[in-house]
Amino acid sequence: MNDYQDFIEEVLISEESLQRRISELGIEISKDYEGHTPHLVCILRGGVLFLADLIRHITVPNTIDFMAVSSYGAGARQTTGQVRITLDLKEDIHNRDVLLVEDIVDSGYTIATVLEFLKTRHPKSLKVCTLLDKVERREIEVPIDYCGFKIADKFVFGYGLDLDELYRNLPFIGAVNTDRYQPPD
Ligand code: IMP
Ligand code: MG
Repeated sequence: MNDYQDFIEEVLISEESLQRRISELGIEISKDYEGHTPHLVCILRGGVLFLADLIRHITVPNTIDFMAVSSYGAGARQTTGQVRITLDLKEDIHNRDVLLVEDIVDSGYTIATVLEFLKTRHPKSLKVCTLLDKVERREIEVPIDYCGFKIADKFVFGYGLDLDELYRNLPFIGAVNTDRYQPPD
């Protein structure tokens, strides 16, 4: 396994900035959902670290559930636009205040597909919270209610986001120098 030090271009968002912004988002969400019990739906696997930190800053009662989607072919760096639901929710969301928690919105196809899928189950409300937004790369318009950071068009890793399934454990977001990165065989 490569040491990330060998190919990191820069630390794009430090651990401290991530944690500060996530606490702000938690406070904002708590205000907006006052008197409600939001049901946070995390998209596996990238959103896991974000969800875990975010809920610690949410002061209204809340519940969580998970779903998984796949869009990239092996080794690919961008979506094919063909998004499949690979793991469905455990709980029924009918009449619930659903808040989707995602790591990053890139082309927008993943979120767009998931929103259409969830709408058919008639939640009371449906909102989107993403840690990162690569605005320039959008191919389909998607509503984003809460966003941690808008970032430039760079491939990033760490804090839940993977590079060929690795480096999700890093506490910061790093940008890859693609000339120096060798995918594992
Ligand atoms: P979209 O469908 O193009 O919006 O892609 C969203 C998904 O692609 C995210 O949920 C991530 O899993 C993945 N993704 C997009 N950009 C990056 C990145 O820079 N690093 C790691 N994963 C990414
Ligand atoms: Mg993801």
